[in-house]
Amino acid sequence: MTDFNAPRTPPKLTSLSAWQALTAHHEQHRGQHLHELFASDPGRGERLSAEAAGWYLDYSKQRITDDTLRLLLQLAEQCGVSERIAAMFRGDAINTTEHRAALHTALRAPTGTQILVDGVDVVPEVHAMLRRMAAFADAVRSGAWRGHSGKRIRTVINIGIGGSDLGPVMAYEALRHYSQRDLQCRFVSNVDATALVEATRDLDAGETLFIVCSKTFTTLETLTNAHAARAWCVAQLGSDAAVARHFVAVSTNAEGVAQFGIAPEHMFGFWDWVGGRYSMDSAIGLSLMVAIGPVQFGDMLAGFRAMDEHFKNTPLAQNLPVLMGLLAVWNTNFLGAQTQAVLPYAQYLSRFPAYLQQLTMESNGKHMTLTGARVNYATSAIVWGEPGTNGQHSFYQLLHQGTSTVPCDFIGFCQTLNPLEPDASGSDSQHNLLMANFFAQTEALAFGKSLQQVLSEGADPSVAPHRTFEGNRPSSSLLAERLSPHSLGALVALYEHSVFTQGVVWNIDPFDQWGVELGKVLAGTTAKELAAVDAPQLAHDSSTNALMRRYRQLRKE
Ligand code: F6P
Repeated sequence: MTDFNAPRTPPKLTSLSAWQALTAHHEQHRGQHLHELFASDPGRGERLSAEAAGWYLDYSKQRITDDTLRLLLQLAEQCGVSERIAAMFRGDAINTTEHRAALHTALRAPTGTQILVDGVDVVPEVHAMLRRMAAFADAVRSGAWRGHSGKRIRTVINIGIGGSDLGPVMAYEALRHYSQRDLQCRFVSNVDATALVEATRDLDAGETLFIVCSKTFTTLETLTNAHAARAWCVAQLGSDAAVARHFVAVSTNAEGVAQFGIAPEHMFGFWDWVGGRYSMDSAIGLSLMVAIGPVQFGDMLAGFRAMDEHFKNTPLAQNLPVLMGLLAVWNTNFLGAQTQAVLPYAQYLSRFPAYLQQLTMESNGKHMTLTGARVNYATSAIVWGEPGTNGQHSFYQLLHQGTSTVPCDFIGFCQTLNPLEPDASGSDSQHNLLMANFFAQTEALAFGKSLQQVLSEGADPSVAPHRTFEGNRPSSSLLAERLSPHSLGALVALYEHSVFTQGVVWNIDPFDQWGVELGKVLAGTTAKELAAVDAPQLAHDSSTNALMRRYRQLRKE
């Protein structure tokens, strides 16, 4: 058997001089507290910040000094971050295990730019597809596109999973304010039939359009749901011919789409150089474009592009995604943080943490370097989160007083899209409350409250230790003027490129996802066993065998 622990080319990262200097630096400064760093440096709060594409990043509440930053930037140089950024934008096959480019940046490249993949300029194809999507979206929005029985479409159901779901649903929720309100989108991903049944139970099939999104068009969940949706639609409308007016597909697999029965003119394509989790601004975003319209979809692409250009052209020390990526490396590899909380102070961003989970963990949850050696350092943090202020009344207890270090990203906006009541300042009182919580939480996490302070406020001495806050809990704050298609696009690109930067430092391939394969293969075999007429002899381990036997006994035959 192959010994996967025997490195072929041993990982070099930990022997780089910058890594070793960071290790020594961390040892030397491990006791330093954020309140000392702020007290000794009044300019810190403004100096440790950067701005790009409408986003202001304050990273002064991270547990770093100017020296930390200098060393992290040296690490980035020694890992070749600048060269890898250039290679990505150029279209080099940086997804080495799949021998492909990772060119999601081409999806938002302006007309006139040239990006070659195998000698072909892909930018004209991208824009041709955007025009086709726009014509379709306009037809649905205006009512020119009619269903089989002549009715206009009122509900769009996106069927897809992973990158073919999380991006569109996150962005639809985020940009609901900008959506056409007499049309709604729903999203079905889980192979649990409940998802589809609940999404369709109150609908008239004659007013419903399904967008089946799957890069490969082989994904079990998506194809199963798409077939069930087709059966529902045909049963209600009484004819197979209805499929043509109620189903369109987004895929790279024209053959698979044709086999399902969707005509080529109702298929919107994209390319194998777009990874699933990087595809929300390709045709995978069709449901979003229907919801917000082509113009605002274009504004979102402009936001992505603004961050792309910043990432590509800005020196590392002022480069937002690079800084965020390096801070993640610092927190993971030197402070030992295993998770990263994402806390949007915006209800519209409720699905953003889920979106970032796939983006980050499917990209960087890897243990093999590009040369096939097992890493001897930690890679991706576990990403999780909930919108503030809900999280404050649930898990923030652990953030403030728990025993793990959980770096937090706070995300907020200066203006609300839903003003209710102005306060004395003339601005919206409820939004001020929301943002007061944002600012207060970052302050409380960083500076805490000492035992002395608690006692001086007259607390019962026996309870006082429980009421102290150590502080020194790292966070970054991201602030934009308002949530808009542009600021959302820039935010997503910011995280995409931060994830890429981390992947470059860790020397892993952030664009493959081999780790999802084993479970899929085993599920295929298991599904056959569950569906077999005569219960086959089970040859799994004793735990799986027992679980399957119990399931068989108790399920409804
Ligand atoms: O199983 C993981 C995955 O391949 C993701 O990377 C992808 O986003 C998702 O499944 C859906 O794949 P597809 O778009 O091909 O249906």
